[in-house]
Amino acid sequence: MKKYNFDKIISRENTDSVKYDFREEYFGKADVLPMWVADMDFETPDFIVDAIRKRAAHPIYGYSIMSKTYHDSIVNWQKTRHKWQIEKDWISFTPGIVPAINFAILSFTEKGEGVIVQPPVYFPFFEAIKANGRIQIENSLHIDSQHYQIDFGDLEKKAKDAKMLLLSNPHNPTGRCFTRAELQTIGDICVRNNVIIISDEIHNDLILPGNEHIPMASVSDKIADITVTCIAPSKTFNIAGLATSSVIISNKALREKFQKTLHQLHIFRGNLFGYVASTAGYQHGALWVDQLMQYIQQNFDFLSEFLLSELPHLKLTHAEGTYLAWIDFRETGLSDKTIKDKLIFEAGLGFSHGPIFGNGGQGFQRVNLATPLSVVEEACHRLKKVF
Ligand SMILES: Cc1ncc(COP(=O)(O)O)c(C=O)c1O
Repeated sequence: MKKYNFDKIISRENTDSVKYDFREEYFGKADVLPMWVADMDFETPDFIVDAIRKRAAHPIYGYSIMSKTYHDSIVNWQKTRHKWQIEKDWISFTPGIVPAINFAILSFTEKGEGVIVQPPVYFPFFEAIKANGRIQIENSLHIDSQHYQIDFGDLEKKAKDAKMLLLSNPHNPTGRCFTRAELQTIGDICVRNNVIIISDEIHNDLILPGNEHIPMASVSDKIADITVTCIAPSKTFNIAGLATSSVIISNKALREKFQKTLHQLHIFRGNLFGYVASTAGYQHGALWVDQLMQYIQQNFDFLSEFLLSELPHLKLTHAEGTYLAWIDFRETGLSDKTIKDKLIFEAGLGFSHGPIFGNGGQGFQRVNLATPLSVVEEACHRLKKVF
């Protein structure tokens, strides 16, 4: 069996990488250890690089179609990895999930209508609601012994005033993979209240060993009927720069509405190398993803043990998926500004600042663990010096 190497340090500086080459502008310090933007420091797997090289060897990169193989690879991957049977016709191309969320808001809601989010959550959700003149309604998650829970009573109340729910599953930044029972309850509330669910499942393949991702639309036919699912090979295979993703809608009326928006904006074609990379990843990536998630688990374990023994006042949230560690700094008693300044200017650490994830983010920091273990170790030692 092939063994992939996730220990290798690869310099990403001067590759126009947001995570590396935007540090000075973002943190005010160009040399922080970058553990913020959610892409990985691991090399994109060889079967994807080879497929791109092979296509690149033909010197004409003209307009390209999404082939049957491209679509088949998406359908097969969902079936084998997530036990979710989808049809080719349900898939629409989008050049990213954040664009897809904006297209969904435009397609299914009107200005002034309410959209539910579950903070602390991936902040572009807030931006999409605001930029399109919709109203943000919050169904905050609650932390209970380092594990996040949904307030269903509150969701039931808020759903009455909402047209849409933006769900992050697995949830960024808390690392929750919602259970079938939780998804069923969310889904039933939305069905009862005519709320459309946009299920952002971009982290669906990044499941820590022993946990499971359940696609929202696989929970029941009624829930599938009101669900718009966003998936992508971008996080899974570290190809976010190729801007290739899919929106899966089984309900024909909803799908036609969504596709009308795409046509109005003339967005139905992506980039050739995105198709090639996506196809190769979904065709050949199972073993690589399995090994990747074992490696990420090792990074979580190291961080967890280090905090417990060396920095017990910093608490690691229990993650079930994603490569994002969500650390609770509240017991330090320090303000968010002080935590941020100490991290950047004293420890030289570039984390994602909790408050950007909205209510419930205060006192937390998000740390990207998709990096060699030696980097996680270095980050831990720097943390210890300062906290
Ligand atoms: C929950 C979630 N949705 C969407 C994205 C980004 O999607 P895209 O780059 O395809 O727009 C991210 C990236 O971190 C994410 O965590």
